[in-house]
Amino acid sequence: MRQTLHPVAYSTDLGTSPLSVRLLGEPLVVWRDSTGIAHATSDVCVHRGTALSGGCVKGDTIMCPYHGWQFDGNGKCTHIPQMEDPTKIPTKAKIAAHTCIEQYNMIWVSLEEPRRPLPAIDEFGAKEWIWVNCGPYEWNTHSSRQLENFTDFGHFPWVHPGLLGDINRPVVPDYEVRTEGHVVKYDITRPEAPNTDDFPVFANANTDAPTRTSHYEIHTPFTLLLHLGWGGKEGMVYFFVSQPIDDEHSRGFLIIGRNYNYDQPDSVLQDFEDVIFNQDKVIVESQLPKKVPFDITKELHMKFDAVALAYRKAMISHGFDN
Ligand code: FES
Ligand SMILES: [Fe+2]
Repeated sequence: MRQTLHPVAYSTDLGTSPLSVRLLGEPLVVWRDSTGIAHATSDVCVHRGTALSGGCVKGDTIMCPYHGWQFDGNGKCTHIPQMEDPTKIPTKAKIAAHTCIEQYNMIWVSLEEPRRPLPAIDEFGAKEWIWVNCGPYEWNTHSSRQLENFTDFGHFPWVHPGLLGDINRPVVPDYEVRTEGHVVKYDITRPEAPNTDDFPVFANANTDAPTRTSHYEIHTPFTLLLHLGWGGKEGMVYFFVSQPIDDEHSRGFLIIGRNYNYDQPDSVLQDFEDVIFNQDKVIVESQLPKKVPFDITKELHMKFDAVALAYRKAMISHGFDN
């Protein structure tokens, strides 16, 4: 987990003020230097443990609000105002600095050198595709639960009747799952609910019993890339990724691309996803244990739970199960 890029903020949510975030239980401060480059360092000042996020950015450093010590993007202390000879800054005066990148309108942090790059989204940046940021959705549960909820389609008629599923057509059609390296893939064509007047977000018009074809990729540990369509040229891309705040808290980032409905305001999809995520939140926060039990003997799995099984196995085989 420490060698994986996790999202901590939307790029637009980080301005000139430092931002306090937590990742895998560690308090971090994310901030932009004078050129706009984002850095992620420890939020604990080496001097007296003060939260650096309560301070401010000064040039290319973050300055502690307590005694004004300054630290650069590598975590090195560059200024101690109380010292008479400023060239004598002790080498111990430093804080942890982490890999920090911006991609897909998000800021990503890896506590240690990341093992792999982010998944490629081919449509991102293509001119026919427009994108909307939703959330982030903060839930009192582990990221594995939040991710798994996004992979699960058997719950649609129950938790999202009339929006994502049709309660009169609850049977999960056959599908196959394959695992390639750290990625679990599956395709499914399934019944969905007709578009509603409140949320005309899907291009499935002209039928009372529409079907949706989805191609899912779970990039372990907590990323889901979903391409979906209804048989025509219109399509959507859902890129969902959960920030593991700690073992009982997570924050889901969702960017949605589409190649139709160009004039629709972002708020229509955002409001729709807010409704969906709030319906899920109640259910998923009630699940025990808070972290998905990766040991497959701990739950009851049915044939249509093949995705859940593959996810558990992939998490174990890539060392993400603790
Ligand atoms: S606690 Fe940060 S400078 Fe003293
Ligand atoms: Fe759901």
